[in-house]
Amino acid sequence: MKNKINDIKNKAIEEIKKAKTFTEVETLRVKYSGRKSELTNVLRGLKDLSSEEKKEIGELSNMTKQTIDSELAKKELEIKNEELNNIDEKERIDITYPGEKSEKGHLHPLTKVRYDIEEIFKSMGFLVVEDREVEDEFHNFDAMNMPKNHPARDMQDTFWLKNGCVPRTHTSSVQARFMEKNKPPFKIISLGRVYRNENSDATHESNFHQVEGLIAAKSGDVTVANAKSIISEFMKGLFGEETKIRLRPSYFPFVEPGFEFDASCPYCKGEGCRICKKCGWIELGGAGMVNQNVFEKVRFTEDEFEGFAFGFGIERLAMIKYGIDDIRLFHAGDLRFLEQF
Ligand code: DAH
Repeated sequence: MKNKINDIKNKAIEEIKKAKTFTEVETLRVKYSGRKSELTNVLRGLKDLSSEEKKEIGELSNMTKQTIDSELAKKELEIKNEELNNIDEKERIDITYPGEKSEKGHLHPLTKVRYDIEEIFKSMGFLVVEDREVEDEFHNFDAMNMPKNHPARDMQDTFWLKNGCVPRTHTSSVQARFMEKNKPPFKIISLGRVYRNENSDATHESNFHQVEGLIAAKSGDVTVANAKSIISEFMKGLFGEETKIRLRPSYFPFVEPGFEFDASCPYCKGEGCRICKKCGWIELGGAGMVNQNVFEKVRFTEDEFEGFAFGFGIERLAMIKYGIDDIRLFHAGDLRFLEQF
């Protein structure tokens, strides 16, 4: 038994010497000093010895355990010191190392296009005005020459609020709001959210943005030709110098005559491609000479003033400018999309 104990001691000392890490030391502690150690195993045979031998072996095993424990402690200290000596190497701070880049936010593509639109119109002397998103029936419909039961109201699917107001269905309502307080001449644009009660798909959303423009002055001072050149300048500013526009007759209750206007496709320059559905032109918005009924609603004297109004969807402009084919991407919050701008 004495030999066995001495063997254990020698083996332990040898293995402890070779240990290099704290984990190795821990494993050896379990093996040679823990409750289930080899030494404890040997001492199980103690009960069969005489009391004389028990004393002798007891002392020997105590001393062995002390030796092993102190070897383990020594080794631990050795490893710790070594780590401290090397810390200089391992944890040295390299002040020339490039820092981690912090993520920077940027403007949403719709905001970018909105700012572009504002800049272009401001450079032509337009004032940018804003008004409320929840409108009363008068300003959204009646003042725009769309009285109750007028079939034109069906052109816009409306969310009705319990109090009879509406989340505005178009930014045209700002025309009436502005003219109640200001007499022509003026040139304004107004940009903002509008709401329609319709299902969303790749080209429709129930909540989107429009820009409305209105030029008004004394009768005879505003012509379709003036307005066409302003819209043309705007389209060139947004899509490039070579952009052409064309007007087609159309109907909107607040203008007479009314037009829809198209821009030549900025992708194929009129040749026909996927974006313009092979026709070379892209439909962009409505426009027309202000219907005299609209001036009457804000109590201007009949035929004193003339005006030209126009309206576009901002998402549509952004989709064409950046080649985006699904309007729902704007509000989906998908960073893979947003990070491209
Ligand atoms: N308000 C129209 C719409 O939401 C757009 C529009 C068409 C505005 C013709 C105008 C205009 O000012 O003259 O569909």
